[in-house]
Amino acid sequence: MAAKWVGRCPDCGTWGTVNEVAVLSTVHGAAVRRAVAPASPAVPISSIDPGATRHFHTGISELDRVLGGGLVPGSVTLLAGDPGVGKSTLLLEVAHRWAETGRRALYLSGEESAGQIRLRAERTGCSHDEVFLAAESDLQTALGHIEAVQPSLVVVDSVQTMSTAEVDGVTGGVTQVRAVTTALTMAAKTTGVAMLLVGHVTKDGAIAGPRSLEHLVDVVLHFEGDRASALRMVRGVKNRFGAADEVGCFLLHDNGIECVADPSGLFLDQRPAPVPGTAVTVTLDGKRPLIGEVQALIGSASTGSPRRAVSGIDSSRAAMITAVLEKRAHLSVGSYDIYLSTVGGMRLTDPSSDLAVALAIASAYADIPMPATAVAIGEVGLAGDLRRVTGMDRRLSEAARLGFTSAIVPPGVKDGPAGLRLLNADNIGGALRVLREIADNKG
Ligand SMILES: Nc1ncnc2c1ncn2[C@@H]1O[C@H](COP(=O)(O)OP(=O)(O)OP(=O)(O)O)[C@@H](O)[C@H]1O
Ligand SMILES: [Mg+2]
Repeated sequence: MAAKWVGRCPDCGTWGTVNEVAVLSTVHGAAVRRAVAPASPAVPISSIDPGATRHFHTGISELDRVLGGGLVPGSVTLLAGDPGVGKSTLLLEVAHRWAETGRRALYLSGEESAGQIRLRAERTGCSHDEVFLAAESDLQTALGHIEAVQPSLVVVDSVQTMSTAEVDGVTGGVTQVRAVTTALTMAAKTTGVAMLLVGHVTKDGAIAGPRSLEHLVDVVLHFEGDRASALRMVRGVKNRFGAADEVGCFLLHDNGIECVADPSGLFLDQRPAPVPGTAVTVTLDGKRPLIGEVQALIGSASTGSPRRAVSGIDSSRAAMITAVLEKRAHLSVGSYDIYLSTVGGMRLTDPSSDLAVALAIASAYADIPMPATAVAIGEVGLAGDLRRVTGMDRRLSEAARLGFTSAIVPPGVKDGPAGLRLLNADNIGGALRVLREIADNKG
């Protein structure tokens, strides 16, 4: 132990290994503990009014769905997404709809000038008088704006461009982002304002700043979308007031953002006409269901050892499924070259995609296209049996939500969501029979 800072340990001689430890002031060897009288005493849980955490509709149905009904006063919601995905457009629309119902909204932008936002408002028809604008990147001034305007909704675009003089560090850095979010959370809790924060994402898709940013806020939403298409999805990642596995669908146009209450037709329109060798499954990414597509191509019969090229799927699992198809379903694919791939670089490591892999290979081999309205979910065992997988309800709901009308599933899966026909197959042979039937009836 040393009373002053030392770079080198006096005992062992190594550098940088001595840590600083704060010493508690002690009286006769015991640490001094002082109790402070609380400003607001603790109260019985039953005496707290639950009405204070009611959801207020944002006026955008798809966003309300993800939020679990709407925005809760005093809550902080973080919306994270890639550059240019449409975050500012969506949140300006939220502010506008909020104002339309007679409430006041304040839009604080640290990225764009008030003029730029006004231009967007003109283009998207979001210029309601009760939407207040301020181009501000200083946190203290931003808090001042909130006090002056007295809104019930505040949009902060974005948390990475706000900075405070109270802590060191560069704007957008870990220390600043944390300090800004903490201050905004405090402001939301004390004033009862619903706060919507825009967050930037890093190259690998995480929210820029510390991971703990997600702990500081009440709701975390991810805004996803492909530049090549107008479809945008808002996914709940964390929600203290509702389910965190909801998805909201939108279309981003030149003149604003539009809710897609029924994305099924849209999703299927984007898919080309069914071709042999493709099968769709629903995988779970954490708690989030994702639609994935497996593609298979059967090459020519090899005299030597056949080629197996796999991308996005576990190669040993693919080899096992091929062997099961050969032995249990009497599909003599063993001597052919087989190429397997997922679409869009997706990784299907979950065993629930086994059945889709098997059906993609069988569909390519027998030249039977699987209908574009069908999904296949299930694990394939070595005996050719089909096994149930976790989160079946969630997967089936996602399939139903995205417009699929039939699902090939293992035995015992009985209750599906409305609109989704469950086709139980006991084993891999049964699944191939079901595939033939639905291909004949087109789903
Ligand atoms: N003048 C315009 N006409 C048509 N479309 C436009 C126009 N300006 C922007 N857009 C569209 O709006 C999209 C999203 O804009 P928006 O500013 O809402 O995204 P953002 O997620 O806030 O981006 P950033 O991360 O840069 O803040 C753009 O990618 C573009 O396709
Ligand atoms: Mg923006």
